[in-house]
This record gives sequence, structure tokens and C-alpha cells, in this order.
Amino acid sequence: MITEGLSSCTDAPLIAPLAEEQLDAASRIFRTAFGTWLGAPDPERFFADRNYVHGRWRSPHVVALGATLDGKLVGSNFITRWGSVGFFGPLTVAPEIQDRGIAKALLTATTAQFETWGTRCAGLFTFAESAKHVSLYQKFGFLPRFLTVISVAQVPPKASAAFQCFGALGMEARSATLVAARAIMQSLYPGLDLSAEIAAVTLLGLGDTVLVEDEEGLAGFAVCHHGPDSEAGENTCLIKFGAVRCDEHATQNFRRLLDACFFYASYVGTTTLMAGVNTARREAHAAMIARGFQPALHGVAMHRPDDPGYSRPGLFVLDDWR
Ligand SMILES: CC(C)(COP(=O)(O)OP(=O)(O)OC[C@H]1O[C@@H](n2cnc3c(N)ncnc32)[C@H](O)[C@@H]1OP(=O)(O)O)[C@@H](O)C(=O)NCCC(=O)NCCS
Repeated sequence: MITEGLSSCTDAPLIAPLAEEQLDAASRIFRTAFGTWLGAPDPERFFADRNYVHGRWRSPHVVALGATLDGKLVGSNFITRWGSVGFFGPLTVAPEIQDRGIAKALLTATTAQFETWGTRCAGLFTFAESAKHVSLYQKFGFLPRFLTVISVAQVPPKASAAFQCFGALGMEARSATLVAARAIMQSLYPGLDLSAEIAAVTLLGLGDTVLVEDEEGLAGFAVCHHGPDSEAGENTCLIKFGAVRCDEHATQNFRRLLDACFFYASYVGTTTLMAGVNTARREAHAAMIARGFQPALHGVAMHRPDDPGYSRPGLFVLDDWR
């Protein structure tokens, strides 16, 4: 048991960058914390088909923090920087030592990291129904806004679409694609920039970024995860972030982006396509329902400050802040 050998649970934890040799312990805490909270029959095996810890730790745009008591890891948090936007999670504390201020200590360091980065819109996704979770984050200035729906759809066996993958491009074409993707992101929210996320997903072998074009150039992109070392889960392709250019072709391009994601999901041998959409993005949410996506999980997006960020009507954006 994790509390064994801890001199006093009322001591303040030490918060520091998570070390590589702590990653397995962090994964164990991640599984048991969520597994226990959600009442899984075997918390040690909860979400065993996906990995939120190693990939984020290896990504240069993510800061990973560990909380230790008497040299034992008792919790961790991962803070992701998407340019002017940042989000954190998964935040987890070992079940045996919850409600003793460990998360609050991690959150103090997390908000300091956002301040260091100059993050303009910081956020998180959490259990909307949990008074504990929502109250905890409110103490740090995050306010509940709209629900985010994580939805799933079956991948048709014979999906087909025209698209390219970032990982198949040469270095020059990759640079040009990142410039075009940044222009799309800039039109959604000033300073939003997932260049590092796009590069990391390909480099770390977590998936790839699906690209769709129209006569004006890059029309949209979707950063997709799949495989056991990714965040997607068995037989699943997860769209971690997807967006199309904000113009009069957005509705049609969003449909084309989803077509491309279905095709990519079938190409990599998965049977389920999963994506999150914040319900403030009214048209994108409606388009997902029209496309047959079924809700798998509802959570609330909390923002600091209380600003819509890129979750506004008219924006065709998919994201998963879990
Ligand atoms: C959520 C989690 C990270 C919190 O960690 P923790 O170390 O227990 O949290 P802390 O002890 O630092 O803070 C909890 C705060 O919530 C408050 N709280 C607890 N239950 C509450 C309730 N029902 N209503 C309102 N506030 C509540 C506590 O009083 C405390 O605040 P206070 O000390 O100012 O009074 C932990 O429970 C966990 O790992 N859960 C499973 C995984 C998870 O859900 N992660 C977060 C996903 S978004």
C-alpha cells in the first residue's frame, strides 16, 4: 500500500518534474485513481489498453509534474501547451492518500506553469456531476462552461476519402503544412498552435495527422491516435484535435475531414472512431450527431479565465482535453 512508510500524511508533498523512472508508478496511480473513482472491478487494469503517461511525458510541449511524499510518488499531472491555449490532465492522486491536499499542491504548480507560459486560455475537462472535482478546480480560478461530449461511431468497413497524412510528407512539405495549419488555428483563436502536438504524434509513433485540402490549400486537419501506446484504446482511432478553416466552406470541409478520419481509422485497422466536441460549438456538435456519432461520455470544460476560447458557435473544432 502506497501510504506504507510515509511519516505523516499531513506533510506537504514535494512537487517536481516527473522523472523517467517514476513513469511506471505514475501509470499505476493513473489506473488505480480513475479505476477506483469509477468503480471498476479491477482498478489496477483500468484503461490498460491505452497510455496517457508515457506519450505525454515524451512530448516536448507537455510538462509532467510529480508529487512525492517521503520519496514516494503519490500523484502526477500533465500540462499541455497548444500555443496560447493550455490544458491539464490527467491529474491523479493515489486513492489511499486522497483528500489530503496533494491535488491542490499539484494545481498550485500547474497554474504557475500556465503563468510562466503566458497561457491566454487555460482549461481542463472533468466530471460535470462531481462536486469535488468542479469545486477543486474553481478554487484555482477555472470556471465551468459548456459540456464536452466524447462520442463514438463505428468505422464503415469500406470507408474511402481523399486525404494525406502528415507523416508521409517530406520535410519541406511538413514545414509548409505546419504554416498552413497555423493559419487555420490562428483564425480559430489568436495564438492557438498545435505544431508541436502534430510533430510529436508522428515522431513518437502515437498516430498521425490527417490532412484535407481544397482549392485554397489546407482546409483542415485532425491529429489522430491509435495503438496500444497511444491514448486511443483498443480498436479505436481517437481524434485528439481536429479543425477546419473558418470560412463559408467550413460545413462541407468538416464533413470531408470526418470522411478522411473514417478512412484513416479503417486503414489503420480500427473499428471505432472517437472524438470530443464542446457543445458551445453548436454547428460542429450538430454535425457530429447528424453523422451518427453516439455520446460515450459527457464532461464539463472549465476555463481560466472565463473566456470561450475556441469553443464558440461557428467553429468546427474537435478536441479531447482528457
Ligand atoms: C480528483 C483528485 C485528483 C483530487 O485529489 P485530492 O488529492 O484528493 O484533492 P485535494 O485533497 O488536494 O483537494 C480536494 C478538495 O476538494 C474538496 N472536496 C472534496 N469533496 C468535496 C465535495 N463533495 N464538495 C466540494 N468540495 C469537495 C476538499 O475539501 C478539498 O478542498 P479543501 O482542502 O480546500 O477543502 C483525486 O480524487 C483523484 O485522483 N481522483 C481520481 C482521478 C480523477 O478524477 N482525476 C481528475 C480528473 S479531472
